[in-house]
Amino acid sequence: MKNNDSILNNFLLNGFDLKEHLIEFLPIEPSKLDIFLENAKMELANLHPGDNSVDSSDFYEEIVGDKHLADLAAWHLTSKDYISKTLKLQQKFSKNLVLDFGGGIGTHALANAMSNNVEHVFFVDINKTNRDFVDFRAKKLGVEKKITFFKSIDETNIKQFDSITCLDVLEHLPDPSSQIDIFGSVMSKDAIALLNWYFYKGENYEYPFHIDDDEIVNRFFTVLQDKFIEIFHPLLITTRAYKKKI
Ligand SMILES: C[S@@+](CC[C@H](N)C(=O)[O-])C[C@H]1O[C@@H](n2cnc3c(N)ncnc32)[C@H](O)[C@@H]1O
Repeated sequence: MKNNDSILNNFLLNGFDLKEHLIEFLPIEPSKLDIFLENAKMELANLHPGDNSVDSSDFYEEIVGDKHLADLAAWHLTSKDYISKTLKLQQKFSKNLVLDFGGGIGTHALANAMSNNVEHVFFVDINKTNRDFVDFRAKKLGVEKKITFFKSIDETNIKQFDSITCLDVLEHLPDPSSQIDIFGSVMSKDAIALLNWYFYKGENYEYPFHIDDDEIVNRFFTVLQDKFIEIFHPLLITTRAYKKKI
């Protein structure tokens, strides 16, 4: 098991062997990988009609194919400094049974699985390609015994988690307030949830799939402020730490 510094250093070095994993899993010719990653954000946005005509579950479960995986990989590789700070935040708060909701390409779940403070990671993602990719990566990185994969929180059969990571997911859900309500119902008394959100479709509409409806966003902040209390942390990032109000 690696210590915290070496986990961070390995992420900063190569995103936990992310490019190698993509080349083998997709599979893709090594010479074509960089261009595939460069085009990923635009191609993902192009898959979305830009209105409400597509259900968000269908979009993330069916339509995205491997485009979302590529988009996330490109983002984690080009924003390593930001992502490494979110990993540092996990190191401060994650312990015992961890729920990673909407875990994507698995950077946070894999880092948690490498941590001595974490007993087990429950990786939940609606997208099967993402689940299969992270399962593949966990085996490559030798942490497969500490992580299991599910499509929904109910399937985990865990009543109380000690930590929750839910990063860059809430703005993709039709009703983010009900999701944080569910988080509250599965958090142990001392559990910490690490959450962020970006309720914005982008300056140039680069994120047509993000929720930005005022009513939905107001409801989200009302539930957040009613049911959770923020825990201060000194890292200058948008991700926040919360415990339940008792
Ligand atoms: C923008 S990605 C964020 C991935 C990861 N948390 C990160 O920080 O890189 C959003 C993820 O949420 C997943 N997702 C979307 N709707 C979901 C739902 N209803 N239940 C579980 N996962 C969902 C998507 O498949 C995708 O992997």
